[in-house]
Amino acid sequence: MNLIILGPPGAGKGTQAKKIAKKYNIQHVSTGDIFRETSKSGSDLGKKLQSYMSSGALVPDDLVVEIVKERIVRPDCQKGFLLDGFPRTLVQAENLDKVLLKENRKIDKALSLDLSEEEVVSRLSSRRVCKSCGANYNLITQPPKNGEICDNCSGELVQRADDNPETIKQRLKVYRDQTEPLIEYYSKTKILVKIDGAKSINEVFKNICAVIEEK
Ligand code: AP5
Repeated sequence: MNLIILGPPGAGKGTQAKKIAKKYNIQHVSTGDIFRETSKSGSDLGKKLQSYMSSGALVPDDLVVEIVKERIVRPDCQKGFLLDGFPRTLVQAENLDKVLLKENRKIDKALSLDLSEEEVVSRLSSRRVCKSCGANYNLITQPPKNGEICDNCSGELVQRADDNPETIKQRLKVYRDQTEPLIEYYSKTKILVKIDGAKSINEVFKNICAVIEEK
């Protein structure tokens, strides 16, 4: 089973993707996570990626497409994959279709999480991530047990560099202009399913599972 999860920044893509990948034993591929990991290396490529991300701009299509093409043909993706944060433009979606066609594979469902812009701003402003293990928290909806310390590894919880008001505004604009057209793209092929992302994490997950398991 190959899936895509779409939605505005902060809609809960990463949160749900981890749960889906675990339950259905498919590989979670997050372009945002790949870029953040690469940027930690401090290499020239890492610095370039960091500058796109911290301004809220998209990383150029040719670079993203190459990375994803190489990632989804690896053995761990043969059992199925869930793409989180990709595709984000029509060019990326068309390239993905081409790569999958060559491999005789296809996307089974594109899950689109809906969330109001007001809720996006609130969720992203209160998101915290563990500097050591990457665990995701939310000071309002999913708070850590002990102040700003990770429940799993006692690591320090920090704000993502792109979760500041200015960058959030820019990320929302980029989403509206460049990613929202994908909803229409996947509606045409009848694989799009809209999910209300404003419900609780468990309710959203339950609704996603129902969609995945429907015959
Ligand atoms: P990326 O990391 O993909 O960021 P994003 O799309 O902006 O999404 P987020 O990770 O911010 O949010 P999310 O939807 O995963 O929500 P989360 O589950 O964390 O990309 C970052 C950057 O990389 C981009 O801006 C771009 O520069 C670059 N990039 C990445 N992919 C690219 C591509 N394909 N092309 C070009 N550039 C690319 O949840 C958010 C918060 O809400 C958390 O605190 C969580 O605990 C909480 N929460 C989650 N669900 C719920 C719920 N149901 N109820 C209450 N709280 C919830």
